[in-house]
Amino acid sequence: MARTALVTGGSRGIGAAISKALKEAGYQVAATYAGNDEKAKAFTDETGIKTYKWNVADYDESKAGIEQVESDLGPIDIVVANAGITRDAPFHKMKPEQWKEVVDTNLTGVFNTVHPVWPGMRERGFGRIIVISSINGQKGQFAQVNYAATKAGDLGIVKSLAQEGASKGITANAICPGYIATEMVMAVPEKVREAIIGQIPTGRLGEPEEIARCVTFLASDDSQFINGSTISANGGQFFV
Ligand code: CAA
Repeated sequence: MARTALVTGGSRGIGAAISKALKEAGYQVAATYAGNDEKAKAFTDETGIKTYKWNVADYDESKAGIEQVESDLGPIDIVVANAGITRDAPFHKMKPEQWKEVVDTNLTGVFNTVHPVWPGMRERGFGRIIVISSINGQKGQFAQVNYAATKAGDLGIVKSLAQEGASKGITANAICPGYIATEMVMAVPEKVREAIIGQIPTGRLGEPEEIARCVTFLASDDSQFINGSTISANGGQFFV
């Protein structure tokens, strides 16, 4: 039977490309979204991928949503923790709410997504945890103290889970996308975005599908020995 994959934030941007690529690769896919019913419905109509609405920042909502997915599609074998937000501001202007919202979604949201599926993965002896971090979690970013902190924290989650899951057939890896052509990057002021593109040796933004291809590899049986890794996909903008 086909394995089941859960992609948070899976109906838009990088998440949508991941959901589609996993479906194409033969997985059953459930994609979550936070608020935009219309876009989620359009995504399901276009792709046939079932969407579920919950807030990853809320543990109880995540747990209940995951139970629903498992009752509809079967046990979740692959988790792609992709849901993320930005609330950019220079640090001297950053409000505590901007810090909290980003931490709740990008960092606690990963805990809330992985924690409910972890016991089942341990029992079944197989699991793939794939966390979408960011180049800015590796290098930091002007106006992103909140976002960079969460994306660096996501790498800590992955490296720890990798050690805990290894003996149970579970791997945990992170992907750090650079600047990808999504709504999130298009929201950056044009002048700033052009300057960023100037810093990318490849000379262009990445495409969501280029991240999705990393995910399908990490989700596959072929990736079993890759555990606790960080794949940088950033056009050469930053080397760790
Ligand atoms: N490095 C150094 N200085 C910078 C800068 C940078 N990257 N960006 C802006 N500045 C400077 C400006 O030149 C300006 O300087 P002056 O005051 O001397 O003119 C100052 O910072 C801007 O100050 P403002 O008070 O005008 O800033 P603001 O409150 O209007 O905020 C901003 C503007 C939010 C910083 C806006 O410029 C912005 O969105 N920048 C982009 C931040 C960014 O790169 N975010 C990444 C989003 S994509 C993403 O997160 C996906 C991913 O994983 C890669």
